[in-house]
Amino acid sequence: MIKVDLQYSGLKDLKTEISESKIIEIHNMIQNKSGRGNDFLGWVEWPETFDKEEYNAMKQAANQLRSKIDTLVVIGIGGSYLGARAADEMIRGLNHIDKVKVIYAGHTMSSTYVAQLTKYLKDKNFGICVVSKSGTTTEPGIAFRRLEEQLISQVGLVKAKDLIVAVTDASRGALKTLADQKGYQTFTIPDDIGGRFSVLTPVGIFPLLVAGVNTDNIFAGALAAKKTLNANDLSNPAYQYAAARYLMNQKGYKAEALVTYELQMQLLNEWWKQLFGECEGKEGKGLYPTSMVFSTDLHSLGQWIQEGTRNVLFETVIKVKTPVLDANVPVDQANYDGLNYLTNKTFHEINSIAIEGVIDAHVNVGKMPNIVLEFEKMDDVQFGYLVYFFELAVAMSGYLLDINPFDQPGVEVYKYNMFKLLGKPGVK
Ligand code: PA5
Repeated sequence: MIKVDLQYSGLKDLKTEISESKIIEIHNMIQNKSGRGNDFLGWVEWPETFDKEEYNAMKQAANQLRSKIDTLVVIGIGGSYLGARAADEMIRGLNHIDKVKVIYAGHTMSSTYVAQLTKYLKDKNFGICVVSKSGTTTEPGIAFRRLEEQLISQVGLVKAKDLIVAVTDASRGALKTLADQKGYQTFTIPDDIGGRFSVLTPVGIFPLLVAGVNTDNIFAGALAAKKTLNANDLSNPAYQYAAARYLMNQKGYKAEALVTYELQMQLLNEWWKQLFGECEGKEGKGLYPTSMVFSTDLHSLGQWIQEGTRNVLFETVIKVKTPVLDANVPVDQANYDGLNYLTNKTFHEINSIAIEGVIDAHVNVGKMPNIVLEFEKMDDVQFGYLVYFFELAVAMSGYLLDINPFDQPGVEVYKYNMFKLLGKPGVK
């Protein structure tokens, strides 16, 4: 469940500020697949309709791979890597000691990063999951060439075949052809699910299975969201959030910062930024999505939030009710640091009190509007729920802006320029 709390947003009753019939009309457009970009709405039914046979095959392949490696390199960019990383970091944490470590490539062309990664992998038993829907994206393409060659030179051609899995389109694209020709196992990204909506497809699920994450629970969370976020009007929390951010934009706000107090949700923030940035930033419209992690950023951007330029940015604060794990502040009889007054509270209690204090400072003193999204726990079930919640919200808020939320023509511009400058055959 997610509760949308608008008491600090400065918005009045949503129903008096936005036409509920517009919300119902857009809800029907999403469900009936009748709006712009309607061939990319496969994610709406996906928590129910995902291919169970392929899921079982993925579980088998992931178990086999997991038994052979200590490191999985996920190669992909944008929607082809952010979801898996967001889930892995949120669920397993940043310093876990589980068997398989997941690291990422193909999201940067930094030669230093690639060379350092190559060095790091020299004495590792690593496997590769290469992900690209189009199969033609340069960044993951060249990273895969580099690491595929390294893997083959470390373990030989025959063993390498069992350590490489490709996730790509069913039939199109260079990656599909390459994988088929070289005998690598492939899993499919459905045609009607775009990159940034693909975390619950093999794009996110296969790497997470290899990591040992409970993906059944992720699907259970997504299904619960699909079932509970089904109202066609403003009683639907996903639509409340969409409507609230749309209204903030109408009132002149240009940017929204997603704020988390949980360090391991930093990558969820990055996933959210991609989802909202690529869906809405078009035709001169859309809030600029940015993000912060508190307390870390309270000691840097916190100054700007409290006293900087007003009426440009608002915060959307994620509040987690119950911690997965908690920790105490130990009693120290000497009490030289004067912190014994905190020993009757846990870290989570102190963090929660900080949220209250910060909201009060930002909203009441700093005149910085806050939307608060409250949810129960930072676990696998909640991850699935969050994904569906934000996907539904962005579909609603994109359609409220009257744009196509499901394409990314702006991203194609740089891709084309790069192909041209690099002399890709056939590109003029
Ligand atoms: O959301 C999107 O469609 C993009 O962010 C893509 O995921 C990203 O550009 C990577 O594309 P591909 O998977 O084709 O390599």
